[in-house]
Amino acid sequence: MANNILKGKRGIIFGALDERSIAWKVAEAAKAEGAEFTLTNAPIAMRMGAIKELAEKTGAEIIPADATKMEDLEKLFDQSMEVLGGKVDFILHSIGMSVNVRKNIHYTQSNYDYTMKGMDVSALSFHKVMQTAMNKDAMNEWGSIVGLTYIAAQRVFPDYNDMADNKALLESIARSFGYHFGVKKNVRVNTISQSPTITTAGSGVKGFDGFFSFADKMSPLGNASADECANYVISLFSDYTRKVTMQNLFHDGGYSFTGVSEDIMEELMKQNKKSDE
Ligand SMILES: NC(=O)c1ccc[n+]([C@@H]2O[C@H](COP(=O)([O-])OP(=O)(O)OC[C@H]3O[C@@H](n4cnc5c(N)ncnc54)[C@H](O)[C@@H]3O)[C@@H](O)[C@H]2O)c1
Repeated sequence: MANNILKGKRGIIFGALDERSIAWKVAEAAKAEGAEFTLTNAPIAMRMGAIKELAEKTGAEIIPADATKMEDLEKLFDQSMEVLGGKVDFILHSIGMSVNVRKNIHYTQSNYDYTMKGMDVSALSFHKVMQTAMNKDAMNEWGSIVGLTYIAAQRVFPDYNDMADNKALLESIARSFGYHFGVKKNVRVNTISQSPTITTAGSGVKGFDGFFSFADKMSPLGNASADECANYVISLFSDYTRKVTMQNLFHDGGYSFTGVSEDIMEELMKQNKKSDE
């Protein structure tokens, strides 16, 4: 399906952990569309080693950076511009983590040190990445920045825990920073609100299998896969979407605007019938 729509474009891709990661699929698709980029992840994630395989496959250099640390981000942008031979045209922020979720702590019993850590990693890091890019004048005019989010920012999914709050902040940062980056440099900033997807971060959420199937049955087009998400990201990095900015864009097979589906109704009716018997 590749059409070279990112030919000549340079970028930075955050968050490829293993081959299930959405960022991994974006890197593969960006390569197929003719882009050059650097890959980055937290130093601790590098130990798993899988990202090296992706780097070889895509001819990308790996530059470790903890996205919560300004000094790491500064080095990342300096080195990326050096390696790529100029400013960047696109950035993917594909980062999320909640310590409260990891430790199975109920939302109503949040440990606030963990809350702050999760918010820093999952939301503030988006601001830090953009602030660094702006201060270093590292983005080309008409560049594109994309973050990944989930509909729990708007509606309650009880087990999504404090990640819901982190996503709400992430989406708000996309709008607020998007305004300033637009005025200053014609750079656009958007978030993609993706269907539940089987990845390390996704399946870490309690009851994931349940809401994966629920969303699939609710969505007229079914859940969007990581590969499909990657294609959507590519369209946002391309010149075909230059005036799309400050948006939260649902990529969820229609889930977000479906009240109830026939599939779900049928299941419930079956259950009701059984309980009547
Ligand atoms: N999987 C889903 O169901 C789903 C749905 C909607 C949105 N998302 C979002 O998509 C994004 C990517 O997640 P994924 O599902 O591909 O899972 P993933 O676990 O493969 O990716 C999460 C990444 O965040 C990185 N990360 C964590 N802390 C970091 C730090 N301090 N600095 C730099 N990187 C750090 C991890 O190393 C990992 O690569 C996340 O923002 C996630 O919330 C996922």
